[in-house]
Amino acid sequence: MSVVLQAKGLTRDYAVKRGVFTKQAIVHALADVSFDLESGKTLAVVGESGSGKSTLARLITMIETPTAGALTINGVDLSTASAADRKALRREVQIVFQNPYGSLNPRQTIGDALEEPLIVNTSLSRADRQKAVAEMMRRVGLRPEFADRYPHMFSGGQRQRIAIARALMLRPKILVLDEPVSALDVSIRAQVLNLLAELQQEFGLAYLFISHDLSVVRHIADRVMVIYLGHAVEVASRDVLFANPQHPYTRALLSATPVADPHHKKERIVLQGEMPSPFNPPSGCAFHPRCPLAMRECSERAPELEEKQSRLVACFAAK
Ligand SMILES: Nc1ncnc2c1ncn2[C@@H]1O[C@H](COP(=O)(O)OP(=O)(O)O)[C@@H](O)[C@H]1O
Ligand SMILES: [Mg+2]
Repeated sequence: MSVVLQAKGLTRDYAVKRGVFTKQAIVHALADVSFDLESGKTLAVVGESGSGKSTLARLITMIETPTAGALTINGVDLSTASAADRKALRREVQIVFQNPYGSLNPRQTIGDALEEPLIVNTSLSRADRQKAVAEMMRRVGLRPEFADRYPHMFSGGQRQRIAIARALMLRPKILVLDEPVSALDVSIRAQVLNLLAELQQEFGLAYLFISHDLSVVRHIADRVMVIYLGHAVEVASRDVLFANPQHPYTRALLSATPVADPHHKKERIVLQGEMPSPFNPPSGCAFHPRCPLAMRECSERAPELEEKQSRLVACFAAK
């Protein structure tokens, strides 16, 4: 068990000009988020659309730099890392997006797409590269004979396998999966999730698995971080979170997910209203306008993440 990535107080603001005459506004897309990623383990990040999940993905993959906070990958602090170190670390963190159409070039064969990272980053011979491509295709459940085909000739699930294969060509330590099965048919989802679980075992990968749906992460997460308007509101081991969720937002997300056992009675909490605008977040706890347990205190100050009942939770109502 080893920590391959540490995030401390990660924060990302965006300055947005909304109209010609309005002055620029700041969106706090991610605020003070901290966690560790361990090799061979999965941290799931769950929240509604707009909660800051993809922003977090862009920070972890070094596509963007944080406004505040520190990111340490493989023991190297990115804020002080040399250009050469940063380049080396970029190889260690790869990403798979929700829509593999967007990440695969329609005019490039699958074989070329998988070979490309090896051409750019390694000195392998052409024969060795092609061997590595065939091996990885087999590993993700695709026939190597298909290397000459183009992305549109594959199904959604196969295309996601290709995107995963491409992300693994440089043998990264960390894989960021941004809603990797959200666009797939339910029947295909379990297959891709199983493949991800096998690959994690085989390569000792650390996963940051992003989803808007708690039920998707139930079987693959080791830990779960629930975020709301850029803030972590509950962080717990998978078992603790699903057995006994403490934050009212976590409970609401859980009660929205279908249960396998129809006899299992469950309190239903329906989330009131929409997620507030991140331009103008509510005072105090950002969740309070939608919260069934809100007290006066909740609109006055923001609860901090505190250890309660074997997890971290940011809620005054949690005991
Ligand atoms: N480049 C950007 N410029 C301005 N606002 C952004 C940018 N990227 C994201 N945001 C805003 O930050 C918030 C979080 O977005 P995002 O991380 O994409 O959420 P999620 O992936 O959870 O749906 C949203 O309010 C979004 O509009
Ligand atoms: Mg997103």
